[in-house]
Order: sequence, then C-alpha cells, then structure tokens
Amino acid sequence: MFRRAHLSGSSNIIAKMYRISDEEFKELRNFVHENYGIFLRDEKKALVLSRFQRYMMDNNFYSFREYLDFLKKSENKEALTTLVNKITTNYTFFMRELEHFKYFKDTVLPYLKAKNKNKDMRIWSAGCSSGEEPYTLAMIIDEFFHGQKENWDTKILATDISEEVLSTARKGIYPLDKLSDLPNAWKVNYFKIYDKSNLVVSEKIKEEVIFRSFNLMEKAFPFKKKFDVIFCRNVMIYFDERTKNELVQRFFDNTNLGGYLFIGHSESINRTITKYKNVIPSVYRKE
Ligand SMILES: C[S@@+](CC[C@H](N)C(=O)[O-])C[C@H]1O[C@@H](n2cnc3c(N)ncnc32)[C@H](O)[C@@H]1O
Repeated sequence: MFRRAHLSGSSNIIAKMYRISDEEFKELRNFVHENYGIFLRDEKKALVLSRFQRYMMDNNFYSFREYLDFLKKSENKEALTTLVNKITTNYTFFMRELEHFKYFKDTVLPYLKAKNKNKDMRIWSAGCSSGEEPYTLAMIIDEFFHGQKENWDTKILATDISEEVLSTARKGIYPLDKLSDLPNAWKVNYFKIYDKSNLVVSEKIKEEVIFRSFNLMEKAFPFKKKFDVIFCRNVMIYFDERTKNELVQRFFDNTNLGGYLFIGHSESINRTITKYKNVIPSVYRKE
C-alpha cells in the first residue's frame, strides 16, 4: 500500500472509470522499454488497463496519470515489482519445444561430458518464468547421468524479472494436467504428491536449480564464469530488434567456446550481425 490507505465508496465508483490516453500509454511504453526491454504494442493498451484497474483502485490512484508520475518519480521497489508482474507474459509449459530438449540430451550433454574435464556444466535458463524450463533441464540431466553424477556440478541458474513467477517456480507445485506431457517415470522419480490435484518437484531436482531475479537489460552481466548453454526462449520476442541484438551479443560474450544458445522456435537472430553459428533451427553455437 503506497499512499492514502482508505477508499470511500464514491472514489471506488470513480476509480472504476480509469482511462489511459494514447500519450500516457506511450509514456508507460517508453518507461517499460527503457527499463525492461519489453515493447508494449498498441494492441496491448486494453490489456494493460484491465491488468491495472484493480491495483490502481486498491492503492487509491485517481488516474492513470497519477500512477505514472508516482511510478517514474518514486523508484518504489514494490511498485516496480508489481508493474513487472503485470506487464510480463509468462506463458510456459513442461517440454515446450521438445526438439530442443532432444538436441540438448543427445548432442549437447555428451559433448559437455566429454569436454568439461573439471566436471562442471554451466547452464542458464534466462527468462525461466514459473520454472518448467529449468526443471525439465534438471530432469534430463539427472536421467542422462543415470545416477552417476558424482563430482559433477550441473546446477542450473534460472532467472526472470517477475518475482511472481519466481515465487511459483521456487515452490515447484504444478497441477496434474500441466504434467501430462511428462514421462510417467519422471512423475514417479522427480515429483511427490502435494495434494489430490498437484504434484511438487522433488528436493533432489529443486536443489539442482538456483532461481534468481535478474533483468536481462543489465548492461554488464555479473557472472564470474561463462556458460556452456544458455536457454533464452520466448523472451526476446517481446524486445525490439536493437535490444535483441545487444542482448545476443552479451550472451555471446558470456558463452564458453563450443557453447550453445537456444532461442524460441518462432524467434530469429540476425545472422549478419551475430557471431554465433546457427547449428539447427533456433539453436546457435559459439565456434
Ligand atoms: C513467455 S515466458 C518464456 C518462458 C520459457 N523460457 C519458455 O520458453 O517457455 C518469458 C519470460 O521472460 C521474462 N522476461 C521478460 N523480460 C525480461 C527481462 N528484461 N529480464 C528477464 N526476464 C524477462 C518474463 O517475465 C517471462 O517470464
């Protein structure tokens, strides 16, 4: 709660009539773009307004203008967290884009196992949303090593800017219908029953994934070591071309020689600019 705490019945009625002018939407768009890289298209205006109605009402803002000014001036962490939770699209599911996981298991893991003499694999799920992608990777790795992972450090870094999805990811509780694409053996080996409609990821798998809040717009990545594999799938789709190209360059600088970048199937990287080599559709390599 940021400001005047109580609403009267009449201000409630006024609040239900919030509008965003084109000018205000542009301002919000610029703010979001500069800080998070996400480009809000005009068609998103109605969606944005609907997502903010309740919030503005609860926090007693008279208008979208007032909310915008507050957001830009205050640097209130809670307000920014809420903004990010509301403007991000977090759609994801287990085994999404299955061919990637096959390639990871059949080509990437054998390569890294043979190459990394120090028994360390550095894997990053960038824009991990509610955890389905990094947990899928952790299960594949566990299966690949057949329980003989001794001395291997294969922990996966999983980052996102939305605290809301990170909190879901850390809990690792998923409804049964969201797990229907997983092999039965995985459900038995890597999950426990949470209640009658949900399973929870086992501690063994949870321990393999480190969830952190991280904004991909940070100009310098704070990681001490480079990565062998970066998954950044269905994230850059919301970025404009320049933002995307700059981010791909930062990924490249933070990839080990021989390492891989996976992007979403519906995404592309400008091949005349990137130094990565395209190895199969939507998978790139630093050679
Ligand atoms: C559609 S989900 C993709 C999830 C998963 N990678 C997949 O392919 O299923 C995109 C995620 O990227 C995150 N995201 C968007 N902009 C980001 C940024 N600037 N920094 C970090 N994460 C961001 C969103 O919060 C969202 O959870």
